[in-house]
Amino acid sequence: MSDPRPAPYGGGGDALSGEAPLPARFRRHADMLVHSGRSPLYIELMRAAADDIERGGEVARLFEGVPAPPGSVPQLRLVAALHYLVLSGQVPELAAFYPSAGGDRQPSEAWPVALATIAEHFGQIKERLYRTVQTNEPGRSAVLFSGLLWLAARHRRPIRLLEVGASAGLNLLVDRYSYRAGDLELGDPASPLRFVDPWDPPPPVDLSAATAELRIVARAGCDVSPLDPSRPDDQLALLSYIWPDELHRIDRLRAALSIAARDPAPVARRRGSEWLPEALAAAEEGELVVVWHSVMRQYVEPEEWSAIEAALDGPSGVVRLSMEPVFERRLGMHLAVHDPAGARPQILAACDDHGLPIRWDTYSPPG
Ligand SMILES: C[S@@+](CC[C@H](N)C(=O)[O-])C[C@H]1O[C@@H](n2cnc3c(N)ncnc32)[C@H](O)[C@@H]1O
Repeated sequence: MSDPRPAPYGGGGDALSGEAPLPARFRRHADMLVHSGRSPLYIELMRAAADDIERGGEVARLFEGVPAPPGSVPQLRLVAALHYLVLSGQVPELAAFYPSAGGDRQPSEAWPVALATIAEHFGQIKERLYRTVQTNEPGRSAVLFSGLLWLAARHRRPIRLLEVGASAGLNLLVDRYSYRAGDLELGDPASPLRFVDPWDPPPPVDLSAATAELRIVARAGCDVSPLDPSRPDDQLALLSYIWPDELHRIDRLRAALSIAARDPAPVARRRGSEWLPEALAAAEEGELVVVWHSVMRQYVEPEEWSAIEAALDGPSGVVRLSMEPVFERRLGMHLAVHDPAGARPQILAACDDHGLPIRWDTYSPPG
């Protein structure tokens, strides 16, 4: 079905960057933010950083020797490194521009202060540029939960849930969040993380029946560099990946962290290709094994991705659910199911890169 209402996607389409120079990638991401009406602060910072790189300034020096393959969003790594300094209380002058730290100064005046911050904290920022982006966005749980409900209605079997590239494992706790859909309360109604009518339209299943059917009997994830939701420095790192002027997302992350810190999902420090064979082998008779990944494909080297796909295609009966960018259209994301895992993807829903809005009108049942 064609999509007349593009989702407000703020992503940079960075996987399309090929060998584009850094300034072009920074500016393209800033343009996408303008297009989607998001993060005025990051528009300023990305554009000014692009100019600085072309001048051979501090930002150019910062990125010297730092790998930036397509899809690795160096622009987000830079702004996350600055946000981390802000959130950890090290740079109060810059914090004055960050709503996430109570700041309210105009974004248009932020760059000279950001540049001074870069000069002063050069080594610390450079060290953080080597880290991959690890945004663990609980808004994506509202997307993935709807996919699980769809699968629960279809398969009616207990689910073993596995995630490749789980970051801190927040989306593996998908059923511990609350989702109100019209008069229905789904998930955990007592959860501090609440989604109100996240799907418009909702999945075309009997939501009450699907919720009653949904039983996650085992859950586990892997990540090359997992973050611990109970560790203060990892919490700061996770917060640093949220855009500082999107306070609703910060609230959402804090709520999810409060749940995960008490009872985290296990996330193994492994590459997906190494972890998957063992994780799949642990499945028990009668279970439906669902392996999902969200916004991780672009960060994985091609050989590793092929190995992940090969591991998924091996065992029978595994279902794959993915929430990944629609790069050809440079707009939004698709929730897709591969059932069984090696089958062609069937698009279920369209959504934003951080979850909402989520629309199931892209789905048409097999004819
Ligand atoms: C942008 S985060 C997304 C986290 C989570 N899926 C979400 O949507 O909230 C991508 C994660 O994939 C992890 N990652 C990248 N390559 C990986 C690999 N080969 N195996 C396992 N994890 C990987 C990164 O460390 C990072 O934490």
